[in-house]
Amino acid sequence: MNLSRGRASSSILLCALLASCSHPERPDMLAVTDVHSFSNSSQVRVTTVDLDLHVLFDVKTLMGNVILSFTPIDPNADTLVLDTRHLSIEKVEISEDRSKWGDTTFTLGKEDPILGAPLTIKITPSARFARVTYSTSPNASGVQWLTPEQTAGKKLPFMYTQNEAIHARSWMPVQDTPSVRVTYNARVRYPSGMQAVMSATNDQTRTSVTFAGDTVFQLARPIPAYLIALAVGDISFKPAGIRTGVYAEPSLLDSAAKEFEDMGKMIDATEELFGPYRWDRYDVLVLPPSFPLGGMENPRLTFATPTILAGDKSLVSLVAHEMAHSWSGNLVTNATWSDFWLNEGYTVYIERRIIEQIYGKERADMEAVLGRQQLEEEMAHLAPRDQVLHIDLKGRDPDDGATSVPYEKGYLFLLQLEKTFGRERFDNYLRSYFDRYSFQSITTETALAYLKETLLDPNRDLADQIPLDAWINGPGLPVGAPRVHSVLFDKVDDAAKKWNAGSNDIPLAARWSTQEWLRFLNQMPANLGPVGMKRLDDRFHLTASGNDEILAQWLLMTVKQNYQPAYPKLASFLQTVGRRKYIKPIYEELAKTAAGRERALHIYHLARPAYHPIAQSTIDAVLKLTI
Ligand code: BES
Ligand code: ZN
Repeated sequence: MNLSRGRASSSILLCALLASCSHPERPDMLAVTDVHSFSNSSQVRVTTVDLDLHVLFDVKTLMGNVILSFTPIDPNADTLVLDTRHLSIEKVEISEDRSKWGDTTFTLGKEDPILGAPLTIKITPSARFARVTYSTSPNASGVQWLTPEQTAGKKLPFMYTQNEAIHARSWMPVQDTPSVRVTYNARVRYPSGMQAVMSATNDQTRTSVTFAGDTVFQLARPIPAYLIALAVGDISFKPAGIRTGVYAEPSLLDSAAKEFEDMGKMIDATEELFGPYRWDRYDVLVLPPSFPLGGMENPRLTFATPTILAGDKSLVSLVAHEMAHSWSGNLVTNATWSDFWLNEGYTVYIERRIIEQIYGKERADMEAVLGRQQLEEEMAHLAPRDQVLHIDLKGRDPDDGATSVPYEKGYLFLLQLEKTFGRERFDNYLRSYFDRYSFQSITTETALAYLKETLLDPNRDLADQIPLDAWINGPGLPVGAPRVHSVLFDKVDDAAKKWNAGSNDIPLAARWSTQEWLRFLNQMPANLGPVGMKRLDDRFHLTASGNDEILAQWLLMTVKQNYQPAYPKLASFLQTVGRRKYIKPIYEELAKTAAGRERALHIYHLARPAYHPIAQSTIDAVLKLTI
């Protein structure tokens, strides 16, 4: 199957003996074992990806070729092994100079349900380029194809990609491991009247050449394959600041640009704290509501759910989060998915610093308290091995590791460091970390070695207070994990007590933020019942809430409490919104009773075609469907 297995392991052994396996010109080329990639990147390293793709909406297919530039690390390597999933490979050629091409032999291995199939390409010692002509499957796990009805404008179809964690391989043959960084170029052809955007220079007036239905993109900074992204649809642009802006369907542009008008201030604040923004522009693409995530930090162009357009900027911490990944994640990247907490924990920490800077400490504290509550609730149901930061994901889908543990436990670890060493020392450490490892992919081991060297060892007396091993390898939260307190939530809790004691006099509620509403709802007793729900709804009109974050929590309660007046709203919500964080808990709750499961199946039957492939497989599993 994989011709190079034996060789790969002997070269890893060699690397281990030599302590490192870096390429002389590319310090980022450290050999790392990634259990989620078939690629032989410790022998042959892909350095540039050149895509040339046609976007065929009619057949839900991307078709074209990719040229991979590669550098041999092991001079005896005679194959280049790439990751693929459900790709049709038509032809593979190799070249020394990118002008003369010759056919070569290749084998496509057996499909593994999680990893896809290795594409093993025979190479010669002097070959430096491989060109693969291929097309994608209409069911590619990393691509969603939307009909016009699933868009806001209802006139044109829409497509977009979502690569993290290991879906890049479903639309391009590539070394799909975050330990390999590539620069990329792309030429994308699509029906005229639409616009294509990528996580690359979308600034058509400058570096790329645009004409109807044919756009050229480039990104000259090395990134992992999970950050390559493409979207095509009825997409327009509106500036939100000097180096920030919004891409969206035309009807959403104005509200999105207004909602995100603080992005410029956020970047300025983050630069001030943690060093320069290395990606030039920062724009957000607002996707149709079936986008399965809240946000995805594609470089220069965050992809975001429209459910954060609350009208009052109350959900912009999601933008702060994705922007923070421009430092933690995109600049310094987890080398494997076991190191995912390096991406997400550091990012949640920076996100809350941004929120504190722009919207004040009280708001950041509320969000930290909500995060802690979510972590505790989720951890109560997780196996001990899934409660650790440095998680073992061998044989598992890396998406299994994307719980709140890497996010919120990671955050609390960094918060303890901040509190122990003081902000000044901690900020200096973070700034130097981003400089030292910029444009590199690192393991937990490397990150911890640097932490010891720069922060712990020079402050030994304080370092003794940090239970490092318990944080990184232990389940649960270490004793002494910091606890954030929210003064605003104290007031909400008082109001909730009064309400639960029967008083309808809650004057403060008129001015509550989204976070305060979430807290208030969290404080409702488990045995509220339909009567208690009706009392809340009559007083606060929650079923009619225009805020999707509040609505999702309310609808989850309606299922738990069997509050039938909200059922039509529940059905329409599940049929328009595909954000997994919202829909998964609701389907899970419905599936707990026979009647609920019936209702879930009925709704899901109508909703499923509009969900993204990864949301479909999540909900299929929740409802135990084999499709
Ligand atoms: N990088 C993640 C999204 C992701 C994680 C995709 C794991 C695939 C696998 C992104 O930065 C993220 O964390 N998004 C969150 C929102 C955030 C505010 C916590 C989401 O989508 O819910
Ligand atoms: Zn994130």
